[in-house]
Amino acid sequence: MRRVVLPRVGTVAAWRREARALARAGVAPEDLVWSVGEAAPDLFADAAGDGGAGAGDAPVAGMSDGLFAAGDGAAGAASATATPSSDPSRELRLPKAAIATIEAALCHSDPERFARAYRLVLALSAGRAAWGDRSDRDVRWALEAARSVGRDVHKMHAFVRFRELPARGPRRAFAAWFEPEHPCLERGAPFFAKRFGDMDWVIATPHLTARFENGRLSFEETGETRPPPEDATEDLWRTYYASIFNPARLMVKAMCAEMPKKYWKNLPEAELIPGLVAGAEARVRAMAEAAPAAAPDRRALALRDHAARVLAKPAPEGPVATLAQEVGACARCGLCRHATQAVPGEGPVGAPLMIVGEQPGDREDLAGRPFVGPAGAVFDRSLARAGVERSAAFVTNAVKHFKFTPRGRRRIHQRPDAGEVEACRWWLDLERQLVRPRVVLAMGATAAEALTGQGGALSRRRGRVETLADGTELLVTWHPSYVLRLRERDAQARAEAEIAGDLALARQLSEQG
Ligand code: URA
Repeated sequence: MRRVVLPRVGTVAAWRREARALARAGVAPEDLVWSVGEAAPDLFADAAGDGGAGAGDAPVAGMSDGLFAAGDGAAGAASATATPSSDPSRELRLPKAAIATIEAALCHSDPERFARAYRLVLALSAGRAAWGDRSDRDVRWALEAARSVGRDVHKMHAFVRFRELPARGPRRAFAAWFEPEHPCLERGAPFFAKRFGDMDWVIATPHLTARFENGRLSFEETGETRPPPEDATEDLWRTYYASIFNPARLMVKAMCAEMPKKYWKNLPEAELIPGLVAGAEARVRAMAEAAPAAAPDRRALALRDHAARVLAKPAPEGPVATLAQEVGACARCGLCRHATQAVPGEGPVGAPLMIVGEQPGDREDLAGRPFVGPAGAVFDRSLARAGVERSAAFVTNAVKHFKFTPRGRRRIHQRPDAGEVEACRWWLDLERQLVRPRVVLAMGATAAEALTGQGGALSRRRGRVETLADGTELLVTWHPSYVLRLRERDAQARAEAEIAGDLALARQLSEQG
């Protein structure tokens, strides 16, 4: 009997290497005991010499990385390295679809998964089993296990909740605790690396921890098995959840299927669910009576959370913080009823350059800071190309609350109307009076309209220096979201370069005089 011990990190890749080499060496499934992490107790010490490598052997050595050879001719050849007793005719050849499914199934919590998968690949490769044949118990197992893992990864993407940690460098840092049903963190984590590529974060699970630092994703065994500490970010999650909760669409069964109760304990917003469900009928009635105001009024909830946050933290100091607090309580138009919070401008008083966007997006609404979402990534890249230090500029928006239409669980951006822009100009004017920038850069038509009263096509206006009523120089450029909406890569690159060029010009002007 031969024992194969797979590492906890990189388990699937290691299984692949082992399986390929064992198949070449002609090792039968029943002669193997698979385990992960630590070696299992030495049950088979006496069995050494039965043709296998013997108990306590290290996993078979000398195998190179790479996929199996695909039987439908699509994938490349398998490793050329083999154990001395290997036979190239025993090279594993598998249908491509089987490879993907088996790799997913290997992330299942079933302790027999490595043995089942090895038995299956041998049978498929030798033609004793046909991929897709559900009457074969191992094929059926692989399909079902892969589906279950897929669902678990989907839940991970939906229910991981990050809490902000004190930053150790220029990048914001977040941590999350999640308990998946299967050990599937290595499959699920790359999604977060794409989505939150501009932050450092850690996702800890009971077995593995994913660490994303300075753009590099790595995995390690989890040392600490408790969730990270609570912080005020929880309030935002609750408020956000309440904002996307539409009682008229309440289907408790569907909701529990989508957000199974086992995930609730790590979700700060979950404590709202019983209350929201209980109050749903009354809210639907109230909504119908209050038509056409379709969205629930969240002002009181947002204010309560805002007050709790303000009380929990030492009062921020300085005029920008004071103004930000006032912006936080703004009710000058209806947008405050549905947004999670106001997003005030940030930056130093006396900044020579002020940059004005349109309004916070979904991510800014949650974070309470301007330009931290996808448009923020374009913005940050353009700043870097133009040599503008973000912290030296004052960055704000024409409208301080997120305007959106709920669509399912998503919040779709809506352009603010002239009345909302006008109502919010109060805050923009106060920010300008406080900061007194030499140059203002308006990003997009809404910002240009808020600053000059004139909207309209940017193509004729972009890149030209204008003068505001108080003598401040104004430049108008594309909005970063415009870059994201363009389909062609060339057009995107051109628009982004134009934003960077306009930012560089704004910087030069702001440095003069
Ligand atoms: N778009 C904006 O105009 N501002 C933001 O802060 C984010 C997206």
